[in-house]
Amino acid sequence: MARHLPISGRTRVVGIIGDPVTHSRSPAMHNAAFAALGLDWVYVPLPVRSADLAAAVAAVRALGLAGVNVTVPHKEAVLPHLDALTPLARRVGAVNTIVARDGRLLGDNTDVHGFAATLRQQRLRLRGRRVLVIGAGGAARAVVAALADAEVGALTIANRTAARAAALARRLRGPRRQVLPLSALADPAQLADLALVVNTTSLGLHDTAFPPLTATATPSRCVFVDLVYGHETPFLRLARRAGRPACDGAEMLLHQGARAFTLWTGRRAPLTIMREVLSSQNSD
Ligand code: ATR
Repeated sequence: MARHLPISGRTRVVGIIGDPVTHSRSPAMHNAAFAALGLDWVYVPLPVRSADLAAAVAAVRALGLAGVNVTVPHKEAVLPHLDALTPLARRVGAVNTIVARDGRLLGDNTDVHGFAATLRQQRLRLRGRRVLVIGAGGAARAVVAALADAEVGALTIANRTAARAAALARRLRGPRRQVLPLSALADPAQLADLALVVNTTSLGLHDTAFPPLTATATPSRCVFVDLVYGHETPFLRLARRAGRPACDGAEMLLHQGARAFTLWTGRRAPLTIMREVLSSQNSD
């Protein structure tokens, strides 16, 4: 949907900082929501390399942006640059939404809510069940927090960098925890009793080949979720070929975005319009 208000002297600016950001559907989703509510706001993509993160956060402050979303690879690295964190962002240890109030930057995490919405959409009841999370970055932190809230019984974290997986496992209270290297995903014994497999790595963004994963060794009703959205990633292709139920990150994107929209504007997000924008862009 096109912006129907001209940019004015009062236009409020929000955006997304990350690397890459060109794939992001957040600008289209939020700009359609602003237009639908007649808000003089605009959402822009802001590519920021890791070396420039501190300067970029300072610019959010200096330029008077109303806030920004934070995406790969900055969700953890951004924490020390903020003035305050919500209790949830502190618990998760990652920020995907920054809200500027009176020149102070507050870090929040709406990904937890977004991933919980994905679990509801898939009608997944995970209490006492075993879940495999692949990846241990900022997105994984939010997923793991939502899984702890869902009272999973056992959580396996597989990651390229073992120390990062171990650090994420240590943050958790409650479920039994296990840390694996990515090479263990090929081992059928590791996949036998899973209710859910979540890919939180950024591998699908660039369609990089996924490490060998014996999807057929999972139970036939095991659900596969990739946080990347908008196209069939190599991970989702593995699931489809094994005949397993699967979904991408569109539902998470929608609900994390809706909550960020409300944090910035104080208005209820127009979910139907935002969902329509995401589904109309699905084929590109
Ligand atoms: P985000 O905040 O979106 O989670 P991130 O913190 O950079 O982004 O985390 C990206 C995740 O993808 C990490 O688990 C990363 O593994 P490492 O912890 O070993 O860096 C994973 N990842 C990225 N590129 C990868 C690759 N080529 N092979 C395997 N894992 C990769």
